[in-house]
Amino acid sequence: MTGKRYKISIIGTGFVGLATGAGLAELGNEVICADVDRDKIDSLNNGYVPIYEDGLSELINKNRRLSRIYFTIDIALAVKSSDIIFLCVGTPSEENGEVDLSQVESATEDIGKSLDRYKIIAIKSTIPIGTLELMEDILKREGRIRGEDYDLAVVPEFLREGRAVYDFFNPTRIVIGADKEKVDKILAEIFLPLNAPIVHTSPVTAQLIKYASNAFLAARISFINEIANICDHVGANVKEVIEGMKYDKRIGGDYFSPGIGFGGPCLIKDLIGFIKMAEKYGYKANYLRSILEKNKQQTEYVLNKLRRLLGDSIKDRDIGVLGLTFKPNTNDVRNSLAIEIIRKLRENGANIKAYDPKGIEEAKKYLDGINLYNDIYETTENVDALIILTAWEEFKEIDLERLRSLMKNPIILDGVNVLDSKRFKSYGFIYEGIGVR
Ligand SMILES: NC(=O)c1ccc[n+]([C@@H]2O[C@H](COP(=O)([O-])OP(=O)(O)OC[C@H]3O[C@@H](n4cnc5c(N)ncnc54)[C@H](O)[C@@H]3O)[C@@H](O)[C@H]2O)c1
Repeated sequence: MTGKRYKISIIGTGFVGLATGAGLAELGNEVICADVDRDKIDSLNNGYVPIYEDGLSELINKNRRLSRIYFTIDIALAVKSSDIIFLCVGTPSEENGEVDLSQVESATEDIGKSLDRYKIIAIKSTIPIGTLELMEDILKREGRIRGEDYDLAVVPEFLREGRAVYDFFNPTRIVIGADKEKVDKILAEIFLPLNAPIVHTSPVTAQLIKYASNAFLAARISFINEIANICDHVGANVKEVIEGMKYDKRIGGDYFSPGIGFGGPCLIKDLIGFIKMAEKYGYKANYLRSILEKNKQQTEYVLNKLRRLLGDSIKDRDIGVLGLTFKPNTNDVRNSLAIEIIRKLRENGANIKAYDPKGIEEAKKYLDGINLYNDIYETTENVDALIILTAWEEFKEIDLERLRSLMKNPIILDGVNVLDSKRFKSYGFIYEGIGVR
C-alpha cells in the first residue's frame, strides 16, 4: 500500500486514536500520538497497548520499531511536528444527554496555542452541528485565523470495536467533509491506499452521515429485538425469521442479532446526542426516540424473562453471568448493558458471580462487590441460573456435562442467542434465548 506520506498528529489516543494512528503509520506516514493521560502514554511507550483489539498491539509495536509512530503527553510537540492533526478525543454524554464537548474544547485550545504554521485539523470525534463554530471561536481567541493558520474538516470514524484494525484497512467508505478543495484533496490522498469509496461532502453533511449511520444501526437492533419478543409470544423462532428475511437484498442479514439491546460507548450516546441536536434545531425526532425507548424496554424484558424462569423471584438467588463487555472481542465495558443488567439484578437482591474472557479488569471499575472469576466453571458453580450477556465464541464451547453437574438449577437464559439451544436441551437444561427456545 503506497500513497503520499504525511506528518500526522493524533490528539486523543483512545480506541479511535490508536487504531487511526497505528493504521496511518502502517501506511508509511510519520505519526505522533498525544494524550493527556500520562499512564496511557507511559504504557504505550513501554510497548503495552492498554486496549484489547485484535492485531493492534502488534501493529503499534512494529511501527514503533520502524520509528513511524511515537507517543507523547506533549500536545504542543505533537501539533508542531505535524502538517495534519486528527482530533480523536472523546465526546461523551452530559447528564441531560447533550454532547459533552469539554475534551474537544480543551484539545482545541491546546492546538490553538501550538499552531506554528498552516495545518489541517481533521475531526474524527463524533461531533454535533455547531461544534466547528465553537472550535473556530476558541482558535480565534488564540489569535488563529481560519484559512490562514488552519482549516477544519470532518472525517467521521466508522470502525467497529473488536474489528478496529481490520476496519481501518478495509473501510466500507471514507467520508470527507471539507469546504475547500485543497483540504479535501489532501485528506483523500491520505486514505487513497485503502481503496475505499470516498464520499466528498460538506462538514455539516459529514456530521449527519455519522449520526444517521449510528441511528440506523441502533434502529436495526431495536427492530429485530421487537420481532424476537413477538416470536417469544407467538412461538416462532427469530433465527429462522432472520434466515427467511435476509435473502431480500433490501433487508439483508447483517446486524440482526436479537438480544439485550445496544450498549457500548457510541450507539446510545450518539442517538441521544442526535435527538437533542435535532430538537435544538427545532425538530422533534420522535422516531429516533422510539428506538431508544425500545432499547430501554429490552433490558426490562430480559430481566422479566429471568424472573419468570426463576419462579417469579430474583431475590437471594445466585445468578451466574457470562459476558461483561458490550460486545465480543473487546475489553470495553463502557455503557455495556451487561453491567446495567447486573446492577439491576443486584438491586433486586440477587447474588452475582460473573466471568468475561477479556473484560474483567475494566468491569472492576464499574462493578463493586461482585464476585468476578477468571473461569467459566468457577462462575457457574452452585448458581440458580446462568445468563449470557455477551456473544463470545468461547461460550459456545462450554463443557455441558460439567456445567450441568455444577449448577444448582439447569436454567440458561441466553440473552444474546449465542448458544445452540438443541445441544443444551439434550443435556437437560431449561434453555431460553430471545425469540428462540
Ligand atoms: N469507540 C468507537 O468504537 C468509536 C467509533 C467511531 C467513532 N467514535 C468517536 O470517536 C471519538 C473518540 O472515541 P474513543 O472511543 O476513541 O474515545 P476514548 O475515550 O477511548 O479516547 C479519548 C482519548 O482522548 C483523550 N483526551 C481527552 N482530552 C484530551 C485532550 N484535551 N488532549 C488530548 N487527549 C485528550 C483521553 O485521555 C482518551 O485517551 C468519540 O467522539 C467517539 O464517539 C468512537
